[in-house]
Amino acid sequence: MAEEFVTHSAEETTHWGREFAKRLRPPALVLLTGDLGSGKTTLTKGLVSGLDAASEDEVTSPTFTLVHVYGKTAKVYHADLYRIESFHDFETLGLEDMFSTPSIAILEWSERFPLPSPWPQVRIRLEHLGGDSRRITIL
Ligand SMILES: Nc1ncnc2c1ncn2[C@@H]1O[C@H](COP(=O)(O)OP(=O)(O)OP(=O)(O)O)[C@@H](O)[C@H]1O
Ligand SMILES: [Mg+2]
Repeated sequence: MAEEFVTHSAEETTHWGREFAKRLRPPALVLLTGDLGSGKTTLTKGLVSGLDAASEDEVTSPTFTLVHVYGKTAKVYHADLYRIESFHDFETLGLEDMFSTPSIAILEWSERFPLPSPWPQVRIRLEHLGGDSRRITIL
């Protein structure tokens, strides 16, 4: 059974992410799927702050930079694959180091490019429900 939640504001989604982070232990891949503006980056603010890797405000969309790395010893990677079209593009992300140490990798638009990884994965879907409401489903 998939777990479903509904939030009614960005703050609630961030809070949900902070709580969900308690379930994460490195190594893990968090695959976020959902339309533009559904709240993937907003949720990531909660995940990253819940993992004590950075404050919410420090977490911004890696849409153009493609990858952000938070945390000092325990690394949290946050990547956006929206613009990734090919394996060549993917290689330019410089994610090679990522799998060498157990870390948490959070991927937006993960379905664009299937990432071969031996790490445990959790897939979270975000959906617009109108206005500021979003459905969060753990798949
Ligand atoms: N319940 C909610 N949960 C999350 N975000 C919400 C909610 N209600 C309103 N918002 C707003 O929706 C927007 C979500 O944007 P966000 O950048 O998190 O989406 P995204 O899924 O990462 O989009 P993209 O695919 O462009 O990266 C923000 O402006 C946020 O304030
Ligand atoms: Mg985003």
